[in-house]
Order: sequence, then C-alpha cells, then structure tokens
Amino acid sequence: MTSPDFLLLRAARREPTERTPVWLMRQAGRYLPEYREMRRRFGFLELCRNSEAAAEVTVQPVERLGVDAAILFADILLVVEPLGVGLEFALGEGPVIRRPLRSDGEIARLKPFDVESAVGFVFDTVRKARRALGDRVPLIGFAGAPFTVASYLVEGGPSRDYLYVKRLMYGEPEAWHRLMEVLVDVTARYLGGQIAAGAHAVQLFDSWVGALGPDDYRAFVLPYTRALVRALPPGVPVIHFGTGTAGLLPLMREAGGDVIGLDWRVDLDAGWRAVGHDVAVQGNLDPAALLAPPALIRERVKGILDRAAGRPGHIFNLGHGVLPDTPVEHVKAMVDFVHELSDRR
Ligand code: CP3
Repeated sequence: MTSPDFLLLRAARREPTERTPVWLMRQAGRYLPEYREMRRRFGFLELCRNSEAAAEVTVQPVERLGVDAAILFADILLVVEPLGVGLEFALGEGPVIRRPLRSDGEIARLKPFDVESAVGFVFDTVRKARRALGDRVPLIGFAGAPFTVASYLVEGGPSRDYLYVKRLMYGEPEAWHRLMEVLVDVTARYLGGQIAAGAHAVQLFDSWVGALGPDDYRAFVLPYTRALVRALPPGVPVIHFGTGTAGLLPLMREAGGDVIGLDWRVDLDAGWRAVGHDVAVQGNLDPAALLAPPALIRERVKGILDRAAGRPGHIFNLGHGVLPDTPVEHVKAMVDFVHELSDRR
C-alpha cells in the first residue's frame, strides 16, 4: 500500500510543503469534552487496553481540530508493566510505580518478556486507528525514550531532582547500564510493532532528560538512545523530543532522529541552529500560551513561523503537551492560525 504524500512526512524529510504541518502533543486528552466523556466510561488503563475505544480517542482531535497528524492513544509506561513494577495511574496524580527499582539486585532480576503478547492491544489500536483515518492524515506512534522510562521505574513517579536516578547512575553504574539495555531492547520491539501495524512516523518522548547536564547525557543516555534509533526500521521518520534541553540539543541530535523536538524555553531559530539545519525541527509554542486571548496566540504563532523563516523541515507543535485547562476553541484557533499564516501557495 502506498501512502499519500502527507505534509508531516514531507516536512520530516525537509521537503518544501505548501504550508507548515501542525499537530499537538497530548491532543487527545482531558481538555477535550469527547475525551472526558470516554473517561466517564473507562479508567485510563482500561481505555488504553480497549483498542476500539483507544482508536476512537486517537481520531477525535483530527475531527475536532483539523490537525495534520493523529497520535496513537496509549502511554509511555504501558510497555514496562510486564516488568512487574506495579504500575498504577492514581487519580489526579499521574503514574505511580509501586515497586521502584533502586538497586542492582532488583534490576538484575528483571525478566525478558514477549512484547507482542504483553502490549498487542497497542498494535491493535494502531491498525484500527489507521483504518478509521483512511488517507486523511498520518498516524504517529510513540514510546518513552530509555532515560525517561527509566526515570519513572527508578523514582517511582514524577520527580523534581531525580536523585534516585542520579544515585544509581553514579553509585551503581553497571546497574544503570543494565537497565538501559533492557529498555532499548523492549522499546525497539515496541516501536517495531507499532510500525509493522502501520504507524507512519514515531516520536520518542525523552520528556525529563533536561534534568541532566551534558556530561551525564553523553555517558548515561546518548549511547542508548542512539542504539534504539538505529534498531528501528529505515524509512519511518523518528521525532526525538525532550524538555529543558537547550543545553543538550547538539547531543540529542547526535543520538539520532530525523526531527528534533524543541520546547518553548529556546527560540526556534536558535534551537534549529544548535541541532543543525540538516535535520528537521518540531515545536515550539508554550502550552500556557493557549490560555491567552486568541489575538496573543496568533502573535505567538506568527513569531514562531517567522523564526522558521519558511525553511523546509518545520513541524509546528507545542513545546510540551496541551494543558488540561486549555479551552478547546483556543486550540482550534491555533491550528487555524498556523494554516493561515504559513500558507505558501
Ligand atoms: O499525545 C497524545 O494525545 C497521545 C496520548 C499520550 C498519553 N500519554 C495519554 C495520557 C501520550 C503521547 C503520552 C505520553 C506520556 N505519558 C509522556 C510523554 C509526554 C509528556 O507529557 O512528556 C509521559 C511523561 C507520560 C506519563 C504520564 N501519563 C503522565 C505524567 C501522566 C499524568 C499527567 C497527566 O497529563 O495526567 C499520564 C496519564 C495520561 N497519559 C493521560 C493521558 C490522556 C491523562 C490520564 C487521564 O485521562 O486521567
């Protein structure tokens, strides 16, 4: 089956496009009334495991907003549940790992598992979402990058300073490296399964890697992210995203990816220079800007497009996910502004 020449895929290859493609991280989520309606019927994990419902949630923002891509509805932590760490999504708290990994002994006991039988429901969601989307827009699959997934496994949940992670890295480096090897292997098979099921592109979320300085990134993260990117089938664009990464951008680029995600703490043109113009970039409106009046949103969208300066290889997105309190009309207005202001026909 040949895919239509989707704007997003052309931009990822740095080919000229008639307008800048736009989608939003967390575009399927709590700010959308139709998502909240689904959540009245299903718990979060239950919704992820129900491929019919998850495919429906994947498509909702495409219909509501007119974005140029859909992102698979799932979570970065689903794939590590079979490690037996006690994953739960506590109400209003985000993910919790009941039995965090803090020592070499615990990490050495991790058992390999079959990804297809553990998270085959995610691959079913990809197939169903592809069918529902038809040729409208491409479908982006995703996974957590090894560092960010490891940070949940070791900290037990979100963290401010990542002190358990750093203690493990510095104090038991062998254990850290062993854990990262497990995650590279599992994540390569997880993304490989999504691609085989029909994902047109994949995004690696290294959301919390900005907690590290460049030397630690080089020693403890870069080799693993690079191994993961190299293990993926060629021809499917990889978007490599993190936040708080202004000081890490050249290293993230070295690790790999066809598109580097920029958060809002860096000017788009400066970020693009830092990663090099021979790679595409994605970003980078502050998610909080969507709480502002539409006139200001329009100004900010224009500012980002001006910094991209019509150079091929820009995918418009937020610098991180949509915040739950965001008015839907503002999100829709932003998508329309990108379409209007980037029109090159
Ligand atoms: O982007 C999308 O629309 C696709 C779906 C998606 C979810 N999680 C659904 C979700 C994606 C791409 C993710 C990735 C994810 N999950 C990341 C990386 C992206 C990022 O934000 O940095 C991370 C760190 C996680 C872990 C996670 N899952 C957290 C921190 C939370 C709680 C915070 C929050 O927003 O509630 C979740 C739960 C979660 N994952 C929700 C959704 C829609 C909210 C659950 C609910 O409905 O109550």
